[in-house]
Amino acid sequence: MCGINGYVGKGRDAALRALDGILKLKYRGYDSAGIVFQNGGEPVILKVVGDPVNLEQRLSSFNLESSIAIAHNRWATHGVPSEENAHPHSDCTGTIFLVHNGIIENYRELRDELIAKGHVFRSQTDTEVAVHLVEEWYVKGKTSLEFAVKNAIARLRGKWAFLIYTSDDPETLIATRFGSPLLLGIGEDGYYAASSAAPFVGRAENFILLEDGDTALLNGQVTIFDQEGRQITREAKKLDWELETAQRGGFPHFMLKEIFDQPDAISNSMAGRINPSGEIKFEELDGVDFGEVGRILIIGCGTSYFAGRQVENLFEEIAEIPAKTELASEFRYRSPVLCKNDLAIFISQSGETTDTYEALQVVKNHGVATVGIVNVMNSSIARELDRVIYQRVGLEIGVASTKAFSSQVVILMLLAFHIARSRGKKNAGEKAVDELLKIPVKIGEVLRCSEQLQKLAEKYYKHKNFFFIGRKNGFAIANEGALKLKEVSYVHAEGYGAGEMKHGPIALIDPSFVTLAIAPEDSVYRNMISNINEVRARKGRVISLATEGDGDIGKISDDVVYLPETIEELYPFLEIVALQLFAYYFAVALQYNPDQPRNLAKSVTVE
Ligand code: M6R
Repeated sequence: MCGINGYVGKGRDAALRALDGILKLKYRGYDSAGIVFQNGGEPVILKVVGDPVNLEQRLSSFNLESSIAIAHNRWATHGVPSEENAHPHSDCTGTIFLVHNGIIENYRELRDELIAKGHVFRSQTDTEVAVHLVEEWYVKGKTSLEFAVKNAIARLRGKWAFLIYTSDDPETLIATRFGSPLLLGIGEDGYYAASSAAPFVGRAENFILLEDGDTALLNGQVTIFDQEGRQITREAKKLDWELETAQRGGFPHFMLKEIFDQPDAISNSMAGRINPSGEIKFEELDGVDFGEVGRILIIGCGTSYFAGRQVENLFEEIAEIPAKTELASEFRYRSPVLCKNDLAIFISQSGETTDTYEALQVVKNHGVATVGIVNVMNSSIARELDRVIYQRVGLEIGVASTKAFSSQVVILMLLAFHIARSRGKKNAGEKAVDELLKIPVKIGEVLRCSEQLQKLAEKYYKHKNFFFIGRKNGFAIANEGALKLKEVSYVHAEGYGAGEMKHGPIALIDPSFVTLAIAPEDSVYRNMISNINEVRARKGRVISLATEGDGDIGKISDDVVYLPETIEELYPFLEIVALQLFAYYFAVALQYNPDQPRNLAKSVTVE
């Protein structure tokens, strides 16, 4: 977690550029923030607790003529969110400045050692040891900052992406990484270095991905050294994110914008992968033989995990391959029995989730073939996979994942059909593919009900306990819907298999408990009706998601949201949009900012 961004170059507004970058990285953390820049030749550090936007006002009292600045958004791991724990950290002399994304595992022993040598620490963070270590090796006029950084990081264990400069040489920015992502943006009038490419949008046309162990010197040019100290060249790539995708486009929050992006997101994920005759083609999988695959493992965290749960049954039903979805955070610590003919499918929007990354290492160590569904290009996970299917949904900035989920589900479905067809089931998913092409339009119809979902949220926002229940294709959606509500609204929301209610959870039902029942007209509709009746018999309140034209369900529900008719497997695309809207408006009714839920960050790069 944590977002870092720095700028050095001809522009005199470095502080504003660095700040703008961390505002675009708010999805990586927002419990505190800080910046350092030069003011009249002297360094100025500003720190705030809470939203980094609070730095804007603090900056307004300076003349902002600096050509270098580094800034940081924090998601606390060591030490509470406070100004003293916010980055940048500086050395004892107040001339070396550092921001960090990652964790220094051996910070306790280093801290004790440095304190014994006379260093004075001002924070409780793991990061601060790094800047004091640099200080140990840096002697103005005698050793270079680059030399000091190299020696300092040789003492560290853990993960880091550091941006470092000294006020003795405010024309040089050092960027170095190990285990945490770090990219360089190449602008017309200077260089950027950041945790992701988001800050480069509209500022730098090309970017370079630093590899583990790389150290870059940015001082009018880019010089990169690898872990062995050899000067190397890393290929610059064109940034293909459009400015528009990083902006809210008139919506009050990114979450709402991204919910409304879904018809396009799904279309983009399908584009070129279904041809006019209904054939499915993944260029990314050219040459892969699925004939021998004996088992499919789908691995991810949070929403990405639920996307896997949503589609795993289809792999069994259509491709007739045993399939199981695993939580990466559990899988990585188990001793799984893996076979050479397993296929592991990793799902990660950010491509940076530590648990998913580590689970991928476990799978690779067993020599199992890996395919991934990833949104962020060239991310750490994407680079480790055998094959990557990119989601192509543009930046997802809201912490609550919305459009990435729908896209993951659609890609997984196409993959299930593709694998089934490549194993001789020529027409697998034919009807579903036809219907999938109509889904963006049907999602548009659900989006047009947003006012109804807003009213529903406003009716129920004072309730504190919610069940989301569903069966079969509605099971994973129930869990994902509950995750959305709890993460943005901080109310107790539990996703449950509707058939499981009577095995325990139904004991909780009383008139204050609200149940969202996912009950489209599908093969388990009758069972869902029984489950709804069971909740009603205990005086629980029920909001049903049902198929348009269902004349009965209203009689046993307090409220009903009607969804356009589709085939059984595809109702989830419509249901999730309704549940996302409900969660969004619920948070807004409670006056929370759904884009920045408390205690969360978009990319979970810690254990
Ligand atoms: O970037 P990833 O898909 O790997 O992220 C996994 C989860 O951290 C993520 O889906 C999280 O659960 C979302 N905030 C949920 O909305």
